[in-house]
Amino acid sequence: MGFHRRLLPNALRFSRHRHGSCKVGTSSFPRCSSTVATPRESDPSSSSGPASPPHLPKFDYVPKPYCGPSRDEVLRKRKEFLGPSLFYYYQKPLNIVEGKMQYLFDEDGKRYLDAFAGIVTVSCGHCHPEVLDAIFEQSRLLQHATTIYLHHAIADFAEALASKMPGNLKVVYFVNSGSEANELAMLMARLYSGNLEMISLRNAYHGGSSSTIGLTAVNTWKYPIPQGEIHHVMNPDPYRGVFGADASGYAQDVQDHIDFGTSGKVAGFIAETIQGVGGAVELAPDYLKLVYDIVRKTGGVCIADEVQTGFGRTGSHYWGFETQGVIPDIVTMAKGIGNGLPLGAVVTTPEIASVLAQKIQFNTFGGNPVCSAGGHAVLRVIDKEKRQAHCADVGSHLTARFRDLQQRHDIIGDVRGRGLMLGIELVTDRVKKTPAKAETAILFEKLRELGVLVGKSGLHGNVFKINPPMCFTKDDADFLVEAMDYAMAKL
Ligand SMILES: Cc1ncc(COP(=O)(O)O)c(C=O)c1O
Repeated sequence: MGFHRRLLPNALRFSRHRHGSCKVGTSSFPRCSSTVATPRESDPSSSSGPASPPHLPKFDYVPKPYCGPSRDEVLRKRKEFLGPSLFYYYQKPLNIVEGKMQYLFDEDGKRYLDAFAGIVTVSCGHCHPEVLDAIFEQSRLLQHATTIYLHHAIADFAEALASKMPGNLKVVYFVNSGSEANELAMLMARLYSGNLEMISLRNAYHGGSSSTIGLTAVNTWKYPIPQGEIHHVMNPDPYRGVFGADASGYAQDVQDHIDFGTSGKVAGFIAETIQGVGGAVELAPDYLKLVYDIVRKTGGVCIADEVQTGFGRTGSHYWGFETQGVIPDIVTMAKGIGNGLPLGAVVTTPEIASVLAQKIQFNTFGGNPVCSAGGHAVLRVIDKEKRQAHCADVGSHLTARFRDLQQRHDIIGDVRGRGLMLGIELVTDRVKKTPAKAETAILFEKLRELGVLVGKSGLHGNVFKINPPMCFTKDDADFLVEAMDYAMAKL
């Protein structure tokens, strides 16, 4: 359990000192600080929550001295020179300057447990040495030439990725992001089927580009522009959905949409298996089996968005779609594939892939040597470090502890997800399931003070998303639960 470890004072485990003032450009930033938390005992068995704040697990790493601009300076520049649509977490935004595995460090050297992984993106761990080595080695030789010439890195990576796929999913197109991957998948679905209309789920997020915004079905992300020929069907949400966990009712809704709202033929259907941005909502069991059948009968193709759920994060399976016992026609991926590199991919069958050959399909950076070398290293690290099994093991421990917390805090309406793709939905009334929006915001700030960074998602922002880098340990899980317990007890 590692409780004893957390009783050690932070100062004994880790210290970081700034030396005088650092000169950066024309500005001077006088700072010198170390992270020293006061050690106090916690009582995890108390039903009213621990008496004092828990302490971060030991971590044997000293971050580099930070001599860059201060948080206020960065914020000022960001406000002046970056688009006003950018949002930040926390009333006092964090200036994160270094990351190591599952931990992040701010400008003052304060260490945080990263339970959100840069929005489910850091898979192997921040600055994982083997991924870095692959990136550096390739960068020193050749950064870019694009696909008009041959390079082994893209071909090797494609081969390795295809080897992870079931069935005839053997052809890869590389892109730079999840939105691009879903755009390309939608384009292929339309060209291959000869149909236009797409189906996606309410509460889905598939990107923010002008085409994928139509697939996305959470109003906070949707601008008032033409959304394309897209139908949003009922979400098979076991917690809030009208049919609970009974997939057949939701599947019938898909059939009804096709029968009454389309020409009778659709281009395709797209879904995540655990909705990320939507708040870690896992689709009702067997839903995809029923819907894939329906969609294929109309001539459409089935797309699995694995941008958040892929690469072993769900623990039980390497890909999220496997949890539903289906094989899609097209799989899209991004985020975890690159451990932080701008990288996305679309994997499909040779038959579907060939529809793009009727014109020139080109992506300048897609599969460039550096991202390919890094992405390939990510695949190797996940296998070598047995991260899928680790996600299953740590994830089930964490889920059990969250369920125990749920017994003691009425505000926890639902604990859900798989592996290290978890969500905790907070409600003010368990029967009415009223979103505890304000309380979630307070707890969110409190967790940050305690040294834990989680995500906040769902239409009402009342779901904590717990998707740490996959190297997250059981000690980290215990610390996270105790921090939540402590914060909730103080609400
Ligand atoms: C499931 C899913 N699909 C697609 C995307 C879009 O990815 P990107 O932000 O890389 O364009 C996201 C981003 O959060 C996502 O969560």
